[in-house]
Amino acid sequence: MHLVSLIYASKITDKIHEDGVVDIVQKARISNEKLDVTGLLCFDNSFFLQCLEGSREAVNKLYAKISSDPRHANAILLQYEEISKRQFAKWGMGLALPTKSNSVSFLKYSRRAQFNPFEMSGESAKQLLLALAKKSEIQ
Ligand SMILES: Cc1cc2nc3c(=O)[nH]c(=O)nc-3n(C[C@H](O)[C@H](O)[C@H](O)COP(=O)(O)O)c2cc1C
Repeated sequence: MHLVSLIYASKITDKIHEDGVVDIVQKARISNEKLDVTGLLCFDNSFFLQCLEGSREAVNKLYAKISSDPRHANAILLQYEEISKRQFAKWGMGLALPTKSNSVSFLKYSRRAQFNPFEMSGESAKQLLLALAKKSEIQ
């Protein structure tokens, strides 16, 4: 099996309110577990940054589905690579919300005064997700 990691960024649309994100993640956990997909979703009130990891087939199919979801738009693939081990094995889908401490990390890895994953390199996006995963503020 080829284990892969995919990272994309997108922007929230008016199709959901902020509390809809928790609902997305609760459902995602159930279906990701069935597909043996793990990952982390980072949300800062306007942008999403998500890593999906699992088999190449599962991750590709899931990304195709997620990227056409009307609750967000302009999904842009930031990084796709084969990996030898999972970085987010603990979570069917972890959720990093804009708590004070997480927001410090969002900005640390952004090139601007405001968090904007569309301007991040794939590598910075990955480093941000890894830094968030090390903290305890993942729901
Ligand atoms: C930002 C965002 C992240 C999502 N992440 C996942 C995910 O990790 N796993 C998942 O199954 N669905 C995820 N979804 C929901 C999917 O787009 C889709 O609604 C869901 O898989 C149900 O699809 P179905 O009704 O065809 O089964 C996400 C949606 C959004 C907007």
